Amino acid sequence: MKPTQPSPFSFPFFLFLFLFLFPITSSVSPTAAPTSLPSPSSSSSTLDPKQLRALQSLNIPTSRDPCFPSSLHNVTLCDSSAPFRHLLSLRLANCSDDVALSFTALKSLSTLQSLQFLNCPISPIHFPSDLATSLRSFTCIRSLRKLTGVWLSRLRNLTELTVSDVSITASGPYVILGNMKSLTSLTISHANLTGFVPKHLNLNLTHIDFSGNKLRGKIPTSVTLLENLETLNLSLNWLKYEIPTSIGDLISLRNLSLASNSLSGPIPESFSAIPGLIHLDLGSNQLNGTIPRFISEMKSLKYLNLENNMFHGVIPFNESFIKRLEVFKIQGNNNLCYNHSILSSKLNLGIAPCDKHGLPVPPPPDKDADDGDSVEDDSGSDYDGSDENDVNHKENNHHHGPNKVVLGVAIGLSSLVFLIVFSVLLSKCCR
Ligand SMILES: *[C@@H]1O[C@H](CO)[C@@H](O)[C@H](O)[C@H]1NC(C)=O
Ligand SMILES: *[C@@H]1O[C@H](CO)[C@@H](O)[C@H](O)[C@H]1NC(C)=O
Ligand SMILES: *[C@@H]1O[C@H](CO)[C@@H](O)[C@H](O)[C@H]1NC(C)=O
Ligand SMILES: *[C@@H]1O[C@H](CO)[C@@H](O)[C@H](O)[C@H]1NC(C)=O
Ligand SMILES: *[C@@H]1O[C@H](CO)[C@@H](O)[C@H](O)[C@H]1NC(C)=O
Ligand SMILES: *[C@@H]1O[C@H](CO)[C@@H](O)[C@H](O)[C@H]1NC(C)=O
Ligand SMILES: *[C@@H]1O[C@H](CO)[C@@H](O)[C@H](O)[C@H]1NC(C)=O
Ligand SMILES: *[C@@H]1O[C@H](CO)[C@@H](O)[C@H](O)[C@H]1NC(C)=O
Ligand SMILES: *[C@@H]1O[C@H](CO)[C@@H](O)[C@H](O)[C@H]1NC(C)=O
Ligand SMILES: *[C@@H]1O[C@H](CO)[C@@H](O)[C@H](O)[C@H]1NC(C)=O
Repeated sequence: MKPTQPSPFSFPFFLFLFLFLFPITSSVSPTAAPTSLPSPSSSSSTLDPKQLRALQSLNIPTSRDPCFPSSLHNVTLCDSSAPFRHLLSLRLANCSDDVALSFTALKSLSTLQSLQFLNCPISPIHFPSDLATSLRSFTCIRSLRKLTGVWLSRLRNLTELTVSDVSITASGPYVILGNMKSLTSLTISHANLTGFVPKHLNLNLTHIDFSGNKLRGKIPTSVTLLENLETLNLSLNWLKYEIPTSIGDLISLRNLSLASNSLSGPIPESFSAIPGLIHLDLGSNQLNGTIPRFISEMKSLKYLNLENNMFHGVIPFNESFIKRLEVFKIQGNNNLCYNHSILSSKLNLGIAPCDKHGLPVPPPPDKDADDGDSVEDDSGSDYDGSDENDVNHKENNHHHGPNKVVLGVAIGLSSLVFLIVFSVLLSKCCR
């Protein structure tokens, strides 16, 4: 760098003089600044010229000052330094195919604290280390094609990380998070991430969303040490075993989803200790036991999903509690029933009423075989559907039958031909 700038009249200095002599208000011919021209012609900008060029290389229009508030729908945000301002925040959305990240452009952008990619399927490149450590917030949604844990782990000063709908190759989340000591908000969702929920997480985390990955094993008890945690979403993973009994230590928790895993065992008693829980989704697991009555005493609860589990017994809720909820889902628990002198069948809970022993009343024999009590199932399509499946299955078998016969005949015939040819040859040569 040094040898190329021998005189004080080098390019940036000259540009500075130029701007100084022609204040921004004089607005040098606004029509003469299409994005394709190099920076000096569009230098009505208060932005650092190097950063202006970097924005142009990323197809971001710079004909208007990118630092002017709301000029670009908050695509950029600048600091207020002088003589030139610097970028603090940049959002690239809906990129065209010809946009390419260059190392040079990114190197000039190392003042960025926040960087977002939305719908930008461009190729990821190695970030210059100045940029990697200056970032506080990084968002990548349906962008950058494919990421690795190592690539993300270099963004060590992040407080917010959001990666969604991008596949991440890593042996586990700990590879990504191990160095990020300041993280408070973490979303890695729908990323096909494998491995385990990390045992050691930053105690200042308020938001964790690992939904839609391939995380397996148990929910580590150490997660319940995160007493600032407000949202925990581990839904749509491959988690097994019981919910930690200390889950109630998450006293700041407001939204919890453990839905669509393979969790088993009961709903822990300690849930009753979480005062502000609004959203509780435990649907589509293998949880069992009875549904605890304390749930109806959780004052903030608005969303309760317990469907598709293995709960049994009588639902311990009354009508006023169920009507207070915005969402209540309970169906798909075959051994669960409701007391019809407490709850009306008009609530359409999707489960059977109880008999006097507290067991589900079996549905009438002439109607749908199993869960014919919910309105949607009135057509009896379940029954027909399964029957059809059986028929299809049999047809498939029949279909396979002839194929196997044909194959057998073919093999038999060809061995016969081979034998004949072989014996003819044998008889010819040994004659
Ligand atoms: C731009 O940011 C301001 C302040 O942060 C906000 O009020 C405004 O809604 C944002 N505008 C857009 C288009 O995002
Ligand atoms: C990106 O494109 C989608 C659909 O074309 C549009 O709805 C959305 O507002 C765009 N996003 C931005 C930030 O421009
Ligand atoms: C980023 O974090 C490192 C330690 O990991 C620290 O030395 C450095 O000063 C931080 N950088 C910034 C720009 O804050
Ligand atoms: C995750 O894997 C599934 C199946 O292997 C694939 O269909 C899906 O596109 C992947 N998701 C991402 C974000 O790559
Ligand atoms: C948590 O935040 C507090 C104050 O915001 C800070 O002093 C502390 O160092 C942080 N702890 C961790 C583990 O990041
Ligand atoms: C959890 O994540 C799933 C899938 O990403 C989403 O549909 C659901 O609304 C989230 N639930 C909570 C409580 O954040
Ligand atoms: C619930 O499931 C656990 C583990 O699958 C099992 O050990 C336990 O016996 C079950 N309890 C009830 C009441 O069915
Ligand atoms: C938390 O749950 C409530 C109620 O279902 C919902 O309105 C809200 O958007 C959720 N918040 C987050 C951060 O998921
Ligand atoms: C319904 O149940 C709640 C919680 O168990 C209780 O506080 C309330 O008094 C009950 N309401 C009626 C009408 O029984
Ligand atoms: C249903 O509720 C009534 C009235 O509270 C009670 O007498 C009866 O024992 C309950 N039945 C079952 C099966 O719990």
